Amino acid sequence: MHIASGKRPGWRLALGFLAGVLLIAMLAIILGLNACSPGSAQDQTPTAIVARTLDDHSYARPQEARVRHVDLDLTADFTAKVLKGTASLTLDTTANAKHVILDVKALDISSVTDASGAPLQYTLGALDPMMGEALTVELPQGRQKVVIHYQTTGDGTALQWLDPAQTAGKKLPFLFSQGEEINTRTWIPTQDSPAIRQTYSARIVVPTALVAVMSADNKLTPKGEAVPGHPNQRAFRFDMDKPVAPYLIALAIGDIGFKAEDRRTGVYAEKAVLDKAAYEFADMGKMVDAAEKLYGPYQWGRYDVLVLPPSFPYGGMENPTLTFATPTVLAGDRSLVSLVAHELAHSWSGNLVTNATWEDFWLNEGFTVYFENRIMEQVYGPDRAAMLRVLGYQDLQTDMKTLNAPGGHPEYTRLHPDLKGINPDDYFTDVPYEKGANFLRMLEHHFGRPKLDAYLTGYFHRYAFQSMTTEAFVVDLRQNLLHNDDGLEKDLKIHEWLYDEGMPDNVVLPSSPALDEAAAAAKAFAAGGDVKTLNTTDYAYPQWVYFLNAMPDTLTADQMASLDAQYGFTKSHNDEILFAWLMLAVQHHYLPAMPALETFLTTQGRMKFCQPLYAALMKQADWGVALAQKIYGEARPGYHYLTREAVDPVVNPPAGSASASSPASAT
Ligand code: BES
Ligand code: ZN
Repeated sequence: MHIASGKRPGWRLALGFLAGVLLIAMLAIILGLNACSPGSAQDQTPTAIVARTLDDHSYARPQEARVRHVDLDLTADFTAKVLKGTASLTLDTTANAKHVILDVKALDISSVTDASGAPLQYTLGALDPMMGEALTVELPQGRQKVVIHYQTTGDGTALQWLDPAQTAGKKLPFLFSQGEEINTRTWIPTQDSPAIRQTYSARIVVPTALVAVMSADNKLTPKGEAVPGHPNQRAFRFDMDKPVAPYLIALAIGDIGFKAEDRRTGVYAEKAVLDKAAYEFADMGKMVDAAEKLYGPYQWGRYDVLVLPPSFPYGGMENPTLTFATPTVLAGDRSLVSLVAHELAHSWSGNLVTNATWEDFWLNEGFTVYFENRIMEQVYGPDRAAMLRVLGYQDLQTDMKTLNAPGGHPEYTRLHPDLKGINPDDYFTDVPYEKGANFLRMLEHHFGRPKLDAYLTGYFHRYAFQSMTTEAFVVDLRQNLLHNDDGLEKDLKIHEWLYDEGMPDNVVLPSSPALDEAAAAAKAFAAGGDVKTLNTTDYAYPQWVYFLNAMPDTLTADQMASLDAQYGFTKSHNDEILFAWLMLAVQHHYLPAMPALETFLTTQGRMKFCQPLYAALMKQADWGVALAQKIYGEARPGYHYLTREAVDPVVNPPAGSASASSPASAT
């Protein structure tokens, strides 16, 4: 062909020829590979790799029949403490799909029908204590919809039903859900895998005094609507028109009010704490703006935060459009708002691009910790951000030490662990968070921010509303950041970072002069210095935490008392500072702080605070064990299932266990 054109300049002709030769060579290679090993001819694009990946924590077989949309119609019965109603699932199926497999656990299923109400055959597989059961529903030809009629049971792990006494207002009950990682199947019968994205809609019926909110558009029925024949109930409707991982479907019901922050952000909370919450999170709008400047448009419409009652077991949960947050960040001085930056960042890393399996959890959390810190730097300046990086690194070192200790789990120091047969909750340590963030900081250090930021913006854009595995991420990284430079990939130790235990030696150690100062002050004090001579004016909260963490375990009773007299730690309103102080107080048997310890442990149930404090008490054989048991006896009924799971083995170690502490502390 190029010969016939005749008029082409010589170099073009040569190029055309070369391209032709290359094409033939490539074809030959592909055909050749195909002939000798069919496996290696598989599509190696990131999307194809993800599509082939199996999720060990779900029974679903999405290649045959996949849930596309979930429509819930549920009534909340606060007397029986159950949700009851239907889940109507819209499916995508292959032409000859005979059935669809769903994940269910602790659900009471009364029937399964098609859209017209005609019964469908179904079977429940063997019950696995972690995974639950496979619900297999037969699909007569052409059926694209199944309706499951069911109610939740007390054995479920996603829902916590709170009595009025466990709320801030004390008058009305409360309900919230927590889906991540594999708990959604205990309140919604669906395919509970993060790689199976689903849109959802819901009608939630509640007692008229209560309000329902979800991780969806909450403005459809702001006051609820009448429920025919049920004057004491009202119904709220929700719609999430973007496909989300099922662990992100979330519901809360309570005496909930709303206060706007700016045009697209606001705060939901029990009415009793609404003003306090609105004050605390006043910078939400600025954070969303900063996040968009970093990595592209916020894709979810509104961004609101719901402040939950104090038994919420996590710091925060990134439910789309509506972050769920612990009230323990309401310090009164906006000092703990990095939690909002974190959950907001998940709107990109986690909710937009989602870990495809729980072995890829670091893609959610590591990216998010990196992103969170960039938002904090943007809004509060580089010094503050540096302090938070150092605190995070300190937490990572503590967890690494525990994981590497005899009887620990060194294999959990990998970013990509093997979790087959293991509850992903057991892998909840600082490793995916902080080692993951430090991996990106290493890349930042090598490539510079403009290049890494452009890469990350492109990554969120390329895989928006898709799920991602570690393996597929590496393919994308090679193509778009490493430019297929094998030598560079080796130099940067990419494989070691993602797949090996421990910390590679090209980690960029974070540093903060402000924290160095705080550590020096602690050292001077511990060495006998007078507390009055310490220059701690204007300390930011990370400095206080670092100051307390830097104290040795050999302080005298007088030293503890003088610290408390000078700084009033026992009365601190900042729960991070209070926690660091109480840890020190337990270690030093500082009795004046024990009433505050008891109050702290009986008025909030955040795992990160509870588990380490009980573990510290249990180490004090002569006095702490009895106190831990007494306090736990009182507090346990009010704790969330997850907090009980974390503390039970600590306070009542199972017979025969050598140590009272669980394998890894919560982050
Ligand atoms: N997605 C997590 C919470 C989570 C993790 C729930 C694993 C269930 C299983 C959330 O984004 C998170 O990381 N929360 C942290 C706070 C954050 C500031 C580090 C928490 O709750 O401690
Ligand atoms: Zn997170």
